[in-house]
Amino acid sequence: MQLTCRCLNHRPVRLCVAVRFQEFRIISATQFAYQSCLAPACGARYEVDEVLAVCPKCGELLDIGYEWDRLPVPGSLREFEERWSRRYEPLEFSGVWRFRNLLPFATEQKIVTIGEGQTILQQAPAVGKYIGLEPRNAFLQYEGLNPSGSFKDNGMTAAVTHAHMVGARHAACASTGNTSASLAIYASSTQLFKAVVFVGSGKISFGKLSQALDYGSRTLQLLGDFDDAMQQVRNVCAQEKIYLCNSLNPFRLEGQKTTIYRILEALRWEVPDWIVVPGGNLGNSSAFGKALGELKQLGLIDRIPRLAIINAAGANTLYQLYEQQGLRWNGGAPDQGLIDRFYQRMDEEQRRASTIASAIQINRPVSLKKALRALEICDGVVRQVSDQQILDAKAQVGAGGFGCEPASAASVAGAKLLREEGVISAGERVVCILTGHQLKDPNATVAYHADDAEQFQRVLGDYGVQSAPYANSPVVVANELEAILDVVRKT
Ligand code: F0G
Repeated sequence: MQLTCRCLNHRPVRLCVAVRFQEFRIISATQFAYQSCLAPACGARYEVDEVLAVCPKCGELLDIGYEWDRLPVPGSLREFEERWSRRYEPLEFSGVWRFRNLLPFATEQKIVTIGEGQTILQQAPAVGKYIGLEPRNAFLQYEGLNPSGSFKDNGMTAAVTHAHMVGARHAACASTGNTSASLAIYASSTQLFKAVVFVGSGKISFGKLSQALDYGSRTLQLLGDFDDAMQQVRNVCAQEKIYLCNSLNPFRLEGQKTTIYRILEALRWEVPDWIVVPGGNLGNSSAFGKALGELKQLGLIDRIPRLAIINAAGANTLYQLYEQQGLRWNGGAPDQGLIDRFYQRMDEEQRRASTIASAIQINRPVSLKKALRALEICDGVVRQVSDQQILDAKAQVGAGGFGCEPASAASVAGAKLLREEGVISAGERVVCILTGHQLKDPNATVAYHADDAEQFQRVLGDYGVQSAPYANSPVVVANELEAILDVVRKT
């Protein structure tokens, strides 16, 4: 049987392959995937089964590339729908690996999956009203529905698959909490390797810390912040030959591309106008840009949605560099001097990131340059939102949807800001990515809602949060039926 493919020049071609697309098994995929240096000026290429943190030649980030014209790419995204009927097979059940033809770096035998990516796109009229959109135009993509409760599982399944391909017995990451929870669940549930996770002291919400502990990972609470932990884990992995699972690892981002495929799938393959995502270490936004660029290149979508990356105002490196200092991708040669001077000043002034959205409390985003590329591909914008705006948006997501953790709500707060600025118009279709589950950080939620001034001040005071206009406070009631009924009847 023949297979309809598209090669990079967008012309459909017929390949003589004796299988149909949906029956295709990635037997020799690794032959057609490679690692390449992000910097076009370097352009070094490496085999897919090499373990590299960065380009050995120039120290730049690595990217995964594919020889698409030698791989069976679907003629249309609709071809993926045929896989739904075979959900009893683990690779078809996975919301990451059912799209494996768009991240074909592994043989099927090596793929490690725990059923990640079963996430949904919810049309959220109430939240749409809050943002200022026509209610039917607002969508929330709940990545908190992943097994470890955040979007990190989309990427971790890919990193762990690569670790399995190269026979790694130990894996490590630095984390603000969700990456560590994700690595830990893959280690515990597959027993393929041991996990070591580095977290900053006092910088991680209890929900996330409890996951790493419960899943049995070796957990190092470093006396420093996330950026310190990131630096140390790189040192340790290099010295001890431990497999590094941070989003520095380009395979992670291959898995994270699939959020885009699932959004398109839920919209029956129609492209939305905007995708709005919180920005921390900038892995997710980078992956989204790569996914959309590839889909366009392969002729699988006809236009690219615009991307908005939202920083917390207390951790706004990308906002400052991109919106205020004009840093751009610049054909793969961003102004390194500008970046270096920015970080030098940050150190001199001892400025450290500080936000209630602890997941994105990051000074030096590792995937900065890849995010610049994504912004270029998607005609993107960057905005910053205050912790007050984040928590108000979070309360609205809870009241009008499934809820989320603080960092996730930056996307909704950012969409509202862009709507107020007129950058997004009411008639445009907007997808806000909710990156983490509501139960990851109950402290922030309870402090916002509970009518307890001392708790409010203790948990939120340092972050400039002054009021809780959308608080839904618990009602203290006497243990008497009449008093209880009185409250219930007023509901
Ligand atoms: N939202 C949540 C809930 C996160 O945990 C993170 C990152 C982000 C957004 C930002 O995503 O880094 O791809 O820009 N958390 C990382 C961690 C840093 O260690 O769990 P990003």
